[in-house]
Amino acid sequence: MGRTVPRHVAIIMDGNGRWAQQRRLPRTVGHRAGVKSVRAVVEESVRQGIEALTLFAFSSENWRRPQAEIRLLMELFLQTLRSDVRQLHENGVRLRVLGDRSAFPDVLQRRIAEAEDLTANNETLQLQIAANYGGRWDITQAARRLAADCVAGCLDPNAIDENAVRARLTGADLPEPDLFVRTGGEKRLSNFLLWQSAYAELYFTHLFWPDFDEDAYRLALADFASRQRRFGLTGDQISTLAGCVGG
Ligand code: FPP
Repeated sequence: MGRTVPRHVAIIMDGNGRWAQQRRLPRTVGHRAGVKSVRAVVEESVRQGIEALTLFAFSSENWRRPQAEIRLLMELFLQTLRSDVRQLHENGVRLRVLGDRSAFPDVLQRRIAEAEDLTANNETLQLQIAANYGGRWDITQAARRLAADCVAGCLDPNAIDENAVRARLTGADLPEPDLFVRTGGEKRLSNFLLWQSAYAELYFTHLFWPDFDEDAYRLALADFASRQRRFGLTGDQISTLAGCVGG
């Protein structure tokens, strides 16, 4: 309680298309510009000592976009893996992809697996890229695993509690997000980390993702530091706890 630096930041990177359209450029130019912000936020997270960063790169609903845009996004993920993984590794970043990757092109799936293997033992920053991810999908796959464990006889249905569900969600080994950021002006969760963000502080900014640089990220972190997180307690209780040793 009372931490000023979040342990885990989750970000919906929204507004690439509108950033480009404002400049009379194709939407895809906005996605390319968005990669710079990804790098800026990853680097700043390492500097700030943040343990985990989860970025929403492609939702399960994004398949409904024009084919050409989907192809460009897949190409961009692939290119970025090619160009950036070594540097991430050298900086102690562990990369993982959350979501159902089976729908991605084979070459992308292979690259993801290679990047995950290469960085598997890194501990400076846990970087999760949510791709073909949906919070309901995540909870559903956890439910499927619970049912399978019950059928296999290794789990008693009466013993299913929140911990049992949580343990089967993706990224269960990480702390839950403390700070949930969305760029681009919309104030929605859009099916991102629904269970995991139950107690996250929400931060919305009108900046489009390509304009979300280190300074903008630092503002979001400063805003987080100013919040009083109560987890259902009263403000007085929190103040008392803060005064206790270890509080
Ligand atoms: C939302 O903007 C953004 C996306 C659907 C894709 C995010 C991808 C990147 C930032 C590029 C690369 C990422 C990685 C991890 C290498 P939008 O297209 O919905 O924008 P709009 O709301 O203005 O249309």
